[in-house]
Amino acid sequence: MTDRTKQDRVVIFDTTLRDGEQSPGATMTHDEKLEIAEMLDEMGVDIIEAGFPIASEGDFAAVTEIAKRAQSSVICGLARAQFKDIDRCWEAVKHAKRPRIHTFIGTSPLHRAIPNLDMDQMAERIHDTVTHARNLCDNVQWSPMDATRTEHDYLCRVVEIAIKAGATTINIPDTVGYTAPRESADLIRMLIEKVPGADEIIFATHCHNDLGMATANSLAAVEAGARQIECTINGLGERAGNTALEEVVMALKVRNDIMPYRTSIDTTKIMGISRRVAAVSGFPVQFNKAIVGKNAFAHESGIHQDGMLKNAETFEIMRPEDIGLAATNLVMGKHSGRAALRSKLKDLGYDLADNQLNDVFVRFKALADRKKEVYDDDLVALMTDSASEAAGDHMQVKFLRVICGTEAPQSADLILTIDGTDQQVTAQGDGPVDATFNAVKKLFPHDARLALYQVSAVTEGTDAQATVSVRLEEDGKIVTGQSSDTDTVVASAKAYVSALNNLVVRREKTKPEDEVKSVS
Ligand code: KIV
Ligand code: ZN
Repeated sequence: MTDRTKQDRVVIFDTTLRDGEQSPGATMTHDEKLEIAEMLDEMGVDIIEAGFPIASEGDFAAVTEIAKRAQSSVICGLARAQFKDIDRCWEAVKHAKRPRIHTFIGTSPLHRAIPNLDMDQMAERIHDTVTHARNLCDNVQWSPMDATRTEHDYLCRVVEIAIKAGATTINIPDTVGYTAPRESADLIRMLIEKVPGADEIIFATHCHNDLGMATANSLAAVEAGARQIECTINGLGERAGNTALEEVVMALKVRNDIMPYRTSIDTTKIMGISRRVAAVSGFPVQFNKAIVGKNAFAHESGIHQDGMLKNAETFEIMRPEDIGLAATNLVMGKHSGRAALRSKLKDLGYDLADNQLNDVFVRFKALADRKKEVYDDDLVALMTDSASEAAGDHMQVKFLRVICGTEAPQSADLILTIDGTDQQVTAQGDGPVDATFNAVKKLFPHDARLALYQVSAVTEGTDAQATVSVRLEEDGKIVTGQSSDTDTVVASAKAYVSALNNLVVRREKTKPEDEVKSVS
């Protein structure tokens, strides 16, 4: 055992806003990125990878603002192995109390072929770019992309060059989610043993989940001596996603007996940020997802319920409260007051200012008038309804009446308030939702493609709310909208209009300044 493996602190590096956000369809607005960054900072994430500053003006602006606002977390930006990328990255992160530049290049045979560099030319590029980054910032991370498919001798050679050039963290990415736990551990162990200078730096592990092994591979790397885990909330990320923050953090907490490492994460903040990331990214969490899935703490079978009533530990290895899930699902109703709502929302991870509470209270009362019992999940749906954040929106749904039945076509009467003026239309379609969307399109003509239309029931029962998610694509830009209502067609109309409002905002944004392909 090397000295390194005796150190028990594991650094958590969150890349929800970079690797997660670049996943097709998961685009977040500027304000949403700031909000998520603030939540990550508050929950104790050590390093926030806030974006890829050269990718677009929008990314640059978000990383800059996050850097200015961060309280405790190190703020990191991504840069390819090019001086102009590194300079742009520094321009954005330099405002942080604790900035970091993360620069990378693909080192496996397949990736080396892309910039058409031979091994020596690439080694020289690594030396030059890491040196350049280190001249700007004293905290530099370097990644050999596709490390797990890079020849071991070459990997050792380039890692040594990066360390000598001043990298303080070396990240070992499993870019295509190809490795397995034993191999992940062996690779880290090999680098620590063979590379001169390895004792001076931190090794990080960055795993993708293509074979469902990202969490296992990350933990195996830690056991072999890696001391930084790169991860995202809900495992958000391209293809099958990245290592899920909540999984590695809770695994280290719950199985500290066999994995004696600690992180700085306040685990009671996990549920709140998981819900928020799901809402703003438009990627719902699967019901049986470890830690944060809706069913992760549900015990429905008779045997389980019996055991749970006698002793919760019979079937529960962690307490719901540990991840910020309210211990009880106390039902609220139309007689519940403002104070009860505030306290309930606090339990659910939403700490609201007075003006925000007033707005939510009005919507809560409207919901309670239509629905006898308001459950935790109804309140979460209320809080994550993007259509309700409508103050500065281009258009809003004012009125909708749909005539539907066994005889097609169905028809929808719709009034949209567009830039303050009410506009009315009637349209027909194949079903109530189609008729409604056709009506919206008549009032706001556009060519955006409907990439996703998804309906899920928030709770059980025929008066349950439906949450509708809509994803639209126009010229490669993807926007989302989400809304909940006891009427599925109303929720659909609001979600569609919310996505269109986001599209209007997106259209106004500056085009990318450089052809940057996404990197996973
Ligand atoms: O998966 C990957 O290789 C990456 C790098 C940019 C670190 O995300
Ligand atoms: Zn990645």
